[in-house]
Amino acid sequence: MSLSIRKLSPALGAEIFDIDLSQPLSDITASAIEKAWYEHSILLFRNQHLSDAELVAFSKHFGELDAPPIGTSNRYWVEGFPEVLVVSNVIENGVPIGNLGAKEVTWHSDMSYEEVPPIGSILYALEVPPVGGSTEFVNMYAALEHLPSELRRKVEHLSIKHDGSVNAAGDLRLGKQPVTDVVTCPGPIHPIVRTHPKTGRQALYIGRRPNAYVCGLPVPESEEIVNELWSRAIHPDWTWRLDWQVGDIVFWDNRCTMHRRDPFDPNSRRVMHRTQLKEKLPQPPIELTPDRVLESQAV
Ligand code: SIN
Repeated sequence: MSLSIRKLSPALGAEIFDIDLSQPLSDITASAIEKAWYEHSILLFRNQHLSDAELVAFSKHFGELDAPPIGTSNRYWVEGFPEVLVVSNVIENGVPIGNLGAKEVTWHSDMSYEEVPPIGSILYALEVPPVGGSTEFVNMYAALEHLPSELRRKVEHLSIKHDGSVNAAGDLRLGKQPVTDVVTCPGPIHPIVRTHPKTGRQALYIGRRPNAYVCGLPVPESEEIVNELWSRAIHPDWTWRLDWQVGDIVFWDNRCTMHRRDPFDPNSRRVMHRTQLKEKLPQPPIELTPDRVLESQAV
């Protein structure tokens, strides 16, 4: 199966053409898309028209669906589709319909504050503002490859504790307390250098900046390392920016990329629907009913 595909930048990303994601995908097409995803880390599909059920059906080809993150409210999902997160600044009847508002969203890898963060996310643009709201992506394989060797050696066996008390727009999440001590605050610990289980390539994994703490180090030393990693991770040579169009679907890999979003005029509308994926569970062994035994003996 060959897809119509073109690279979007030397750094990362590819666009796949001539495909209608509202239609059921054959296993062959889904596995060609998955292969392209591993190769390019981010895939863009333009001019799509999907219902939420179709977005969920497309997403399920690549993993189990993960629950959306908790924002400043826990109600930002689509009625009837608890797996679909609404990312939006729109306020209806005084109530925000979605997460993250119109402010800048700072660099992050989705839900790195979870013990098992989602492997990927799929974001579908339903309404976009005329100006702003673009999303930038960075290649974290390249970020690691470009670290000075001394820094790389230093962090190779260190881990960071990731904090989820605030979202990437800087707002305190529902039910969270502001962090006063990065050493004792709760949060999962992830290695700074991780190996992508599918590509076998190593990537820098720093998740999000606020309250990041390199475990076991005095805070000033941890701050120095975290600041240095962040100052080196993002570079124009390995980032790519998307100016969204209605109908765009972007499918990114959280294990080897991070993203951020530009702010936009809060009086304009931006409405996106997002799914997030867990690792596919291994298929349970097929139960051998008498019919299946006969079937397998016939082969
Ligand atoms: C996100 O971080 O999932 C949202 C990115 C965006 O709004 O472009």
